[in-house]
Amino acid sequence: MSDVPEELRQKLCLALDVDDLVAANRLARDLKGHFGVVKVGLELFTAVGPDVIGAMNDYGYRVFVDLKLHDIPNTVERASRVLGALGASYLTMHAHGGAPMLRAGVTGLMEGAANAGLPEPVAVAVTVLTSDADAPDHIIPQRVRVAAEGGCQAIVCAVGDLPDVRTLTPRMIKVVPGIRPEGAPADDQARVGTPQEALDAGADLLVIGRPITRADDPVQAAADLVASVTSVG
Ligand code: C5P
Repeated sequence: MSDVPEELRQKLCLALDVDDLVAANRLARDLKGHFGVVKVGLELFTAVGPDVIGAMNDYGYRVFVDLKLHDIPNTVERASRVLGALGASYLTMHAHGGAPMLRAGVTGLMEGAANAGLPEPVAVAVTVLTSDADAPDHIIPQRVRVAAEGGCQAIVCAVGDLPDVRTLTPRMIKVVPGIRPEGAPADDQARVGTPQEALDAGADLLVIGRPITRADDPVQAAADLVASVTSVG
């Protein structure tokens, strides 16, 4: 285990973008001291199935289920209910789906968790993908409004959007992907920031994938990332 301050560890979310359970388990086991949350996205969920949520809960992680739900309200509600019951602590849905869809997803998620006797999870609205460099300026405020209207408690945004998003919605939890340690390649992320920049700008949860999972030594990469943070914000 490491001596990462708990306040920081709970703000760090490891994106487990791998396609098999052995690799996911290895990363989860080795990086427990650095990350309080793991994100299960489309790749791992599709490869391994919903049991991966329970497996990661068993390691002591809160699990961020990033399936970016976007469908008719009834379908989103029913899928969210299942995911809430399975132990998702965070669940993403596209704000583009509209307030009624988000509201249905929030209802399903909360009821699923409550029926299973689990703590209240967090519904996370996705505004614009961080790989999209061409999104028009007006879209973020519009999607943030829809997210709030739909009852989501958290919002995904890029580091550069944080000042505006904080003004628009001071109370919502800010989830920030596109995190790159100083000097790391941006990969396909168009709008990146360092961990310290994200924290300074008010990020509540930093989502970090390839700089750790594709590193030759993920534990060392995680230790370097943590060491680069001088203040939690
Ligand atoms: O590997 P990397 O650090 O770029 O991973 C970022 C993670 O955040 C990926 O799992 C990606 O799906 C997710 N994400 C994103 N932009 C969003 C929402 C989620 O990059 N707007």
